[in-house]
Amino acid sequence: MEWVFEFYRKQNAWTSAYRQQPGENEKFKTRLIENNVGGPPLQVLELGAGGGQFAVTCARAGYQVVAVELLPELADHIKELARSLPPDSLEVICGDFFSLHIEERFDTICYWDGFGIGEDREQRVLLKRIASWLKPGGLVFMDVYSPWFWAREDGKKQRWGEFWRETGFDFSRCRLVDTFCHCEEKEEPFSQSLRCYTLPDLELLLEGTGLKIVSIEYQAGFDPNTGEFGYQVDFSDAIMYGVILGEDG
Ligand SMILES: C[S@@+](CC[C@H](N)C(=O)[O-])C[C@H]1O[C@@H](n2cnc3c(N)ncnc32)[C@H](O)[C@@H]1O
Repeated sequence: MEWVFEFYRKQNAWTSAYRQQPGENEKFKTRLIENNVGGPPLQVLELGAGGGQFAVTCARAGYQVVAVELLPELADHIKELARSLPPDSLEVICGDFFSLHIEERFDTICYWDGFGIGEDREQRVLLKRIASWLKPGGLVFMDVYSPWFWAREDGKKQRWGEFWRETGFDFSRCRLVDTFCHCEEKEEPFSQSLRCYTLPDLELLLEGTGLKIVSIEYQAGFDPNTGEFGYQVDFSDAIMYGVILGEDG
């Protein structure tokens, strides 16, 4: 996972993805928590919080949120956004969720858009840690990258501002491998590698972690009918799907 810090640092530096205003996407995810776990005040832990758009939306709705983010510049951005919130509604921790010590227990743990950075043995370590941070009866909300869409994208090239994004798919390891190359070669190319899971793969991964699938809430991708991002595309077209996990046994 050596690529992780450098990739997100560079991605943050050259896109505005992590500095956007919170929008409908974050409200949708906050409603998922309300509908499945309950309304505020409940304790929510967000892992890999990025620019904090969800953490802020959730805290503004009245939840007590702890946001964990690896990159200091993103953690600072979340703190900046949190200034508009009631005091103590959002705590920001800059750290690595693979090594961080967290004493508190949570009603809800979220990991939006990011599960898959490790190899399976590391993913299991993370799932066990998540299970240990959950209160009895609590639920986990997670995006999981789906392989079918990404396998079809293998070899495609797209312009993203000053960069080319080359999408690859490692068929032997079922991983999406995204490489960004500067158009004028001002920077070395940099890549991310994300494990994609079919549902049966995910069920196998979860074995022995203390967590099990409770429900599949959405399949997210570009809706061919509207050309917009949608939450109910066919599984075969989904970029990712949203699962709810609960305690196993
Ligand atoms: C694809 S971004 C998604 C950000 C946010 N969840 C969203 O949906 O906009 C993944 C985020 O996870 C963070 N991250 C990756 N590995 C991490 C780790 N080990 N500990 C904490 N944060 C991590 C990255 O820095 C990045 O901000």
